[in-house]
Amino acid sequence: MAKTVLVSGGAGYIGSHVTVELIAAGYDVVVADNMSNCDLTCFNGVKKITGRDDIPFYEIDCCDYASVTRLFDEQKIDAVIHFAAFKAVGESVAEPLMYYRNNLVSFLNILEAAKVHGGCNVLFSSSATVYGEAEQLPVTEQTPRLPATSPYGNTKTMCEDILRDTVRAVESIKGIALRYFNPIGAHPSALIGELPRGVPNNLVPFITQTAIGKRECLSIFGNDYPTEDGTCLRDYIDIVDLAKAHVAAVSRMVDGKMKENYEIFNVGTGRPVSVQELVDAFEKVNDLKLNYRIAPRRPGDVVAIWADTTLANEELGWKAERTVEETLASAWAWERHLAGK
Ligand code: WQD
Repeated sequence: MAKTVLVSGGAGYIGSHVTVELIAAGYDVVVADNMSNCDLTCFNGVKKITGRDDIPFYEIDCCDYASVTRLFDEQKIDAVIHFAAFKAVGESVAEPLMYYRNNLVSFLNILEAAKVHGGCNVLFSSSATVYGEAEQLPVTEQTPRLPATSPYGNTKTMCEDILRDTVRAVESIKGIALRYFNPIGAHPSALIGELPRGVPNNLVPFITQTAIGKRECLSIFGNDYPTEDGTCLRDYIDIVDLAKAHVAAVSRMVDGKMKENYEIFNVGTGRPVSVQELVDAFEKVNDLKLNYRIAPRRPGDVVAIWADTTLANEELGWKAERTVEETLASAWAWERHLAGK
């Protein structure tokens, strides 16, 4: 019988791509989302891509324990992938209580409900932000975490620790934390992708919105960093590749292949790409000119971070496959789809 995966935050950017790949791999999926940061665009896209109109959907807030336990009462859940969280770094600095309450309470409720219902495999969506400005690059899973520079980053570190401690104490719960680098791009169908609210903070949505004419000009934040072309280096991971890493991690858990009851994996490409290189690649692959200028550095940005992906490659049998050009073409196709062009 197919195993069932609960995807909290399953109507969002990463959650929708993960739902598609789980279903393609033969899993049953239950989606929970409070729709606080998305509409039904991506969930409808998921149904179209998978041809499945019957995906159970719970419009619930994971901060409400009664709703979470009701879901666990009604569905037999083999694994949970927890995405339901706020994710805007700047907003978290302005609204720390809102961030701590939402991101911690929702995860505590998922773990509590899993425990009460006899245990579960839990995959937590963490972030490379836990490494801060690392001294040695690329970062491995052993690279020390540094104090986060935002409440958002703190919630990632804290939830990792909450999962680790829960796994230690509760035999029936096993956990994996995936540390994402910079997820970008969209599904090749252009039916699902990122839907930023208001002015995008992240680079690629800002690029595509500038290219379509929604924004006038992209600011490249700093070209005087100690890198080859002076712009920051990141590890941009394709969203479909990222989604496939989740399938590999879930399979490892439900098939009983874990070596420890709590494991951590970096999910990136292992290749650093500069902001300037990314902008140039976007122009080239999509055959267009982008309006951009060099602007002052953005406070809080680290100069460079990229992943050592050896562990994920060897243990999960997963590696990033799409090229940055393919990914940037998919991001542009998605932006045009949204604009009806
Ligand atoms: C990438 C590079 C910017 C916008 C953040 C969070 C992280 C994770 C992903 C997710 C940087 C430059 C950006 C722009 C630019 N969280 N840039 N002009 O900062 O690496 O990571 O998002 O939920 O936790 O911290 O990603 O896409 O914002 O920036 O020049 O308009 O692009 O300076 O070098 P970042 P990003």
